[in-house]
Amino acid sequence: MFVSKGRLSAGIAGAAIAAGVAFAPAAASAEGTVNIYSYRQPDLIKPLLDAFTAETGIETQVLFLDSGIDERIAAEGSNSPADLIFTVDIGRLQGAKDAGVTQPLENAAINDNIPSQYRDSEGHWFGLTTRGRVVYASKDRVEQDTITYEELADPKWKGRICTRSGQHVYNIALFASMVAHHGADYAETWLTGLKENLARKPDGNDRAQAKAIHAGECDIGLGNTYYVGLMQNNEKEPEQKEWAASMKVLFPNSGDRGTHVNVSGMALAKHAPNKENAIKLMEFLASAEGQEIYAERVYEYPIGPGTEPSDTVKAFGEFKPDTLPLEDIAANRKTASELVDKVGFDAGPSS
Ligand SMILES: [Fe+2]
Repeated sequence: MFVSKGRLSAGIAGAAIAAGVAFAPAAASAEGTVNIYSYRQPDLIKPLLDAFTAETGIETQVLFLDSGIDERIAAEGSNSPADLIFTVDIGRLQGAKDAGVTQPLENAAINDNIPSQYRDSEGHWFGLTTRGRVVYASKDRVEQDTITYEELADPKWKGRICTRSGQHVYNIALFASMVAHHGADYAETWLTGLKENLARKPDGNDRAQAKAIHAGECDIGLGNTYYVGLMQNNEKEPEQKEWAASMKVLFPNSGDRGTHVNVSGMALAKHAPNKENAIKLMEFLASAEGQEIYAERVYEYPIGPGTEPSDTVKAFGEFKPDTLPLEDIAANRKTASELVDKVGFDAGPSS
């Protein structure tokens, strides 16, 4: 597999050819190729794609982009070389469908391996791995080992909570799940309570919240599960291991509906010139083998029947996922985003 940023390059017998154009050159392999447009970092998906090529002989080519995949495929129109879209978050998966750059797929093998709450009912997108949106809690300053999202609005947490922007897709999905479960009025009151409990204005990414807990700036923070694994194993920035070591993971609502989950996922691109091979890759990704390779690399949870997370991920704690269909979360994202603005969430606490 060869990867380029901003353009597709072809891999031929171990030699990278920088194509210099936006189109895939003719397939190097007799078995053909699959072109992937990915928001996911190349090194995260490489083991998965290498395993697929080893099994099938089908080559893969990855175009990695930070943003604008939907716009790019739309602009390329029927000439688009994109076969498969690789992304994270229900907001982006649903966004691709809404932008009209995906096509539906009805495939029994895939559907058998992906529980229905994690895929589009019309087959436009499929979740492959899940991540929980959990509470990072200071080991020193938080005694309790259970928590609920509802409780985050309790005044006992005043001045003690950290989070990234309320408008970030990860928080929007969580807040949308609160709208889905409790209605918009409750969600507004809850969001106001959470805002008033913040230790500071929303800032930074999820790992920055762990850093703030380590520094004593707050006692609990919102974050995704896989960042715990990324921090624990970070050799490039070893101080992140200390951030992770100073906190414990609380899985909210373990005692009732379960913890809010989001997905990384895939969608078949609208024009998909290599559709047959793309579907083979999708079947591989959805298989127990594919899910487990992927989940281990990214510290996420495989979702298919009979699959298990890696030991690192298991060590985060017992994970009971909320069974709310992701489609219901997608449907409430707009309301959630409006509420974030309405309560002035990103301005931080009023006192
Ligand atoms: Fe992330």
